[in-house]
Amino acid sequence: MKTITIQTKNTTYQMGITDTGFLLHLYYGKKLNSECDMSYLLTYYDRGFSGNPYDAKDDRTFSMDVLPQEYPGYGNGDYRTTSINVQDINGVYGCDLRYCSHHFSDGKYSLPGMPAVYADISESQTLSVVLRDKASGIEVTLLYGILPAVDVITRAAIIKNIGTNEVILDKAYSGSLDFLNGNHDILHFHGRHGMERIMERNPVIHGVQSFGSKRGTSSHQHNPFVILAEKDTTEDYGNCYGMSLLYSGNFKCEIEKDQFNQTRIAMGILDEMFAYPLQPGETFETPEVAFIMSANGFTHLSHQYHELIRYHVCRGKYKIERRPVLINNWEATYFDFDGAKIVDIAKQASALGVEMLVLDDGWFGKRDSDNRGLGDWFVNEEKMGGPLAETVEKVNKLGMKFGLWIEPEMVSEDSDLYRAHSDWAFSIPGKKPVTSRNQFVLDFSRKEVVDHIVDQITKVIDSAHIEYIKMDMNRSICDVYSAVNGMQNYGKIMHQYVLGVYDFMERLLVRYPNILLEGCSGGGGRFDAGMLYYCPQIWCSDNTDAIERIKIQHGTSFGYPISTVGSHVSAVPNHQTGRTTKIKTRSTVAMAGSFGYELDLSLISEEEKQEVKHQILDYKKYWDLIHNGLYYRLHLPEEDRETAAWMFSSKDQTEGLLNVVTLDTHCNGPISYIKCKGLNENSQYIIEGKSQIYCGSALMSVGLPIPVMQGEYQALQLHFIEVK
Ligand code: DGJ
Repeated sequence: MKTITIQTKNTTYQMGITDTGFLLHLYYGKKLNSECDMSYLLTYYDRGFSGNPYDAKDDRTFSMDVLPQEYPGYGNGDYRTTSINVQDINGVYGCDLRYCSHHFSDGKYSLPGMPAVYADISESQTLSVVLRDKASGIEVTLLYGILPAVDVITRAAIIKNIGTNEVILDKAYSGSLDFLNGNHDILHFHGRHGMERIMERNPVIHGVQSFGSKRGTSSHQHNPFVILAEKDTTEDYGNCYGMSLLYSGNFKCEIEKDQFNQTRIAMGILDEMFAYPLQPGETFETPEVAFIMSANGFTHLSHQYHELIRYHVCRGKYKIERRPVLINNWEATYFDFDGAKIVDIAKQASALGVEMLVLDDGWFGKRDSDNRGLGDWFVNEEKMGGPLAETVEKVNKLGMKFGLWIEPEMVSEDSDLYRAHSDWAFSIPGKKPVTSRNQFVLDFSRKEVVDHIVDQITKVIDSAHIEYIKMDMNRSICDVYSAVNGMQNYGKIMHQYVLGVYDFMERLLVRYPNILLEGCSGGGGRFDAGMLYYCPQIWCSDNTDAIERIKIQHGTSFGYPISTVGSHVSAVPNHQTGRTTKIKTRSTVAMAGSFGYELDLSLISEEEKQEVKHQILDYKKYWDLIHNGLYYRLHLPEEDRETAAWMFSSKDQTEGLLNVVTLDTHCNGPISYIKCKGLNENSQYIIEGKSQIYCGSALMSVGLPIPVMQGEYQALQLHFIEVK
């Protein structure tokens, strides 16, 4: 069997081409010699009810129902989860793709209009494999982007109608992986508004398990990042495979264990209600999925994803640069503010060292509550006490930058925009649309709609010195219908909607290359690698309770770097949970992200103000370690421990920052010992401000006793410095 092999620094990926032209998936795992031919793993038996391709002739042992495939489709005798389903105009299914050609080239492919991993030509390659089925009129070019140093293999598919009639794409996933054996677990990140990306680990069972979103966004409920792991995989041991979809709309991940205990995992745009018409000559490009395989457990897998997203997905000035410590007025004022109040918040914050003021929802149109005003992107000068530029100048004079909130995809029924263009909102003729937060969704699949919103919002941005934009999105999408001729196909509209959102953000970034764009969707409802191509940080959750945030940020850390996590210190009792924690606890948790404040500083004590000053200095001091170091999950929330702990260690192992939060308090309780990670076994360390010397090996293999701290939810940050 002819093979095609991809090598990265630590992994090998291999496909095989059968004599009959089927493209099989032979291997993905720990690195092998390049001459290894993994086709020896395939076994051939005559399996009942597993049919044979006609050209296998008398060979009843050759069945696509059993063999591992690279891009499985329905129509060649495989009855497992597919990556591609094609229907002709008569509703006939039957796609039988065969290998045509392949070639490697230098540099990583890009996907016009869509997010994609990027890398220098010297550090990346592309493999293109062309498959064709003349009978169904389909040609598929499988794209593989290879970043050897980061152990990344990306996949996407370009599907072309090479026939003479229209065909319907019922399913067009980005990629899949087949495993011939093994006992696997699936780790996925589920949640809800205010509790996103909670890690859940389940055994892969016979049949199909699936996670996804049909909300139009990647969603709070499921995240387009999953890990398939061998049963015994832990943070530091074992084989695991990550799949991160660079897409911010409807998606699905399916995991199937088949009749012979083989496992298939596949991911891409949601196939439900997806029926994408392709005219002769037309192509459809799938979004991209990024695979990483770790033979050393979840920590290594996460480190590779952190590296990938920080350096090969995020873009722009703030990709690497330290982001300003900000104060956001949302939880301080909600809609109840005016220009003077905003300047007052800025004054208080600047005195403590905060570097940017973010004006959240409510500055435009008649937006005095969340019932009205969306779509009217002109400054409410009455409320602001004059043009926005005046407020911005006052804030700038305090030595602070100014940021602004927008929600471009939405329109309120009570808005001038809706009154003028009600057909710009998704709504099905004859049906009353579903409302949510009293708002409708603008049809961003239509260019004129995106053009108008870009026009309005850029006028505001141009009018003042704005250096940050928080782009929000506050409802799930429904009633999908485009009031444009020939555009009533749900799958097509939903995909083009996402492309419209990407186009909007791209236009902002091109026009304002130095702006810091923060993503948001009611917190982390659109926290995915696709958004991170445009926004180097995303507001992680509307839940700012420090203790709940530990779980949310823990789950988020599996697939996304710390720098992407927007995290703020807010008021107590916390507005979402009513819980009271110390300001030190809140800042310790918020520092595991892009740091800021979101509370009325005039309401905190003088002592707390002094603490805030120190927190900001600490954050600036530790920022490099936090964003550019390696993140380690130590005590895991799912283990139900009494302390939560995580650590940042510098890549050169000369320093580490251990963070501990107690989750329970006892009379005469046991002592918690925390094993550090990321230090040098052969080095000695002191804790900053203390004199005791610790051996790196002891800190990591035996641990550090955590002093008893009285009171609930106490926090500790210990800075380890190597003793030279
Ligand atoms: C939801 C966001 O997540 C909040 O931070 C805030 O910006 C509100 N929307 C404003 O409406």
